Amino acid sequence: MERIVILTGAGISAESGLGTFRDKDGLWTRYDLNEVATPEGFARNPRLVHDFYNARRANALDASPNAAHEALARLERERAGELLIVTQNVDDLHERAGSRNVLHMHGALAGALCAACDHRWPAPRAMDPDAPCPACAAPRTRPDIVWFGEIPYHMDQIAEALWQADLFVSIGTSGEVYPAAGFVQEAQAAGAETLEINLEPSRVPGLFDRVIAGPATDTVPNWVAEMLA
Ligand code: APR
Repeated sequence: MERIVILTGAGISAESGLGTFRDKDGLWTRYDLNEVATPEGFARNPRLVHDFYNARRANALDASPNAAHEALARLERERAGELLIVTQNVDDLHERAGSRNVLHMHGALAGALCAACDHRWPAPRAMDPDAPCPACAAPRTRPDIVWFGEIPYHMDQIAEALWQADLFVSIGTSGEVYPAAGFVQEAQAAGAETLEINLEPSRVPGLFDRVIAGPATDTVPNWVAEMLA
């Protein structure tokens, strides 16, 4: 089991108090994603979009990593071989738990981007739609988040890692959003073993070689202990 690729979703941060999207009272039951998570929504109403992400950024900054984030950081520290975390999450709880090899394929709340000149810089706690870009001064700043209809980040590196993987683990994601939802098939095509760790199985039975069901703060530390035994 030399090379492990782990995909994480909102479920791994749920017990840190950060909302998921599609669970009961999830974010997409309270906000219209077309208004707050698309380039068109941002063009229509940048202040609404900044308010939405400012609230999520504040929640994420005030949240703490949970036992699942910490277990994955321990696995990276204590186990020989390569471990890559590909996260759909935009919080920084993996990094704050100590994980180093993390790719944010949907961007990060900690990042700011200029829609006019592509300049990137560390986001302030609250972003203002009228604030000028530090590089080109245009009032076109946006969260460095990948919205629906935009291309996720690091896809070449992710495809290469999936091709080389011996084990692919999906943790806390509903598997509703592509391209992340297709990673399990890419890993299987490359001959990797596949494991889903989720509150309850997310997909058609049999898609994953193995499924571990339960809250991430129980299931992930138990799985890591098994891997380190
Ligand atoms: N422990 C483990 N899994 C959990 C827990 C928990 N405590 N609570 C919820 N889950 C699981 C749910 O069962 C579900 O499968 O987490 C998953 C959350 O699914 P979504 O809300 O769809 O979140 P996610 O899969 O990360 O969404 C993917 O969609 O909206 C876009 O860009 C956004 O990155 C996001 C992407």
